[in-house]
Amino acid sequence: MQSNLLVHGPEQGVLLLTLNRPEALNALNTALLNELSAALDTAEADADTRAVVITGSERAFAAGADINEMADRDLVGILDDPRVAHWQRIARFSKPIIAAINGFALGGGCELAMHADILIAGENARFGQPEVNLGIMPGAGGTQRLTRAVGSALAMHMTLTGEHITANRALQAGLVSEVCPTELTVNRAIEIAQTIASKAPIAVRFIKEAVYKANDTDLVTGLRFERHAFTILAGTADRAEGLKAFQEKRQPHFKGQ
Ligand code: CAA
Repeated sequence: MQSNLLVHGPEQGVLLLTLNRPEALNALNTALLNELSAALDTAEADADTRAVVITGSERAFAAGADINEMADRDLVGILDDPRVAHWQRIARFSKPIIAAINGFALGGGCELAMHADILIAGENARFGQPEVNLGIMPGAGGTQRLTRAVGSALAMHMTLTGEHITANRALQAGLVSEVCPTELTVNRAIEIAQTIASKAPIAVRFIKEAVYKANDTDLVTGLRFERHAFTILAGTADRAEGLKAFQEKRQPHFKGQ
C-alpha cells in the first residue's frame, strides 16, 4: 500500500517528511495526518533529529483538508474530529520545522505551512484560504496564524475572497522568509535545517519557544520568559562549549547538554 508520508533520515540532524498523495494534490486526509503525527512523535524522542523539513511535490505542497473525507462528517463528527489532536501535535513539536512549499498551499495546506517555524517558498507556490468557496471557514489556524503573519488587511482579503497569493506576495507580506527557484526549494530548506541542526539544541528549543511568546503574550511576559530561558541556558554544557570554542577560535561541538 502506498505510504501517505515518505520519511527520509535523519541525515546530518535533519528529518525530511514528504507528503505523498499526488493523486489528490496531497490533500490532508486522516491517514496522512496520522502518519505525520506519528513521525513527529518519533522525531521528538530522537536525539539525532534536530530539525524537520516538511514538503510536498512541485505541483502541490497540500491542497487543503481532504474535501471528500470532510463531506462525510456532520457537526458531531467535526466536534470530535481526531485530526484536531494531530494539529496540536504539530504545533507543540519542540524542534524547528521548516516547510519547503512548492505549488498549491491552500486551506489546510496553507495552515500546515504556517505550523512550520520557517517557510521557504518556491517561485511557483500559491497560498490561499479558499474555504469560503465551500461555504465553510478555515479550521486549523487560517484566520489566526495568517492574520498574525500578514496582518488583518491581507488576511481578510484572502479568507473572505478565497483568492490565492503568489510566492513573492507572500514574501512581501511576511508569510515566508525566502523565495527560491522551484527546483531548489527542498534543498534550500534542508540547508537551513542543517544549519540549525549544527547549533546547540537546548538553545534552539528555547529560542523557538521565546519567539512564539512574542505572538502569544504581552511584552512584559515575553521579556520575562526570554530572561528566564537565557538564565537557564547558563547552566548548559553547550553554553560553556560555545563560549570556549569562540575563545579558542575553533568550531563548537554541541551535545544537547
Ligand atoms: N481534497 C480532496 N481532493 C482534492 C483536493 C482536496 N482539498 N484538492 C484537489 N483534489 C483532487 C481533485 O479532486 C482531483 O482529483 P481527480 O483527479 O480524482 O478529479 C485532483 O486532486 C487534481 O485536482 P484538480 O483536477 O482540481 O487540479 P487543478 O490543477 O485543476 O486545480 C486546485 C487545483 C486549484 C488546487 C483545485 O484542485 C482546488 O481548488 N482544490 C481544492 C482547494 C480547497 O478548497 N482547499 C480547502 C479545503 S477545506 C480545508 O482545508 C479546511 C481546513 O481549513 C482544515
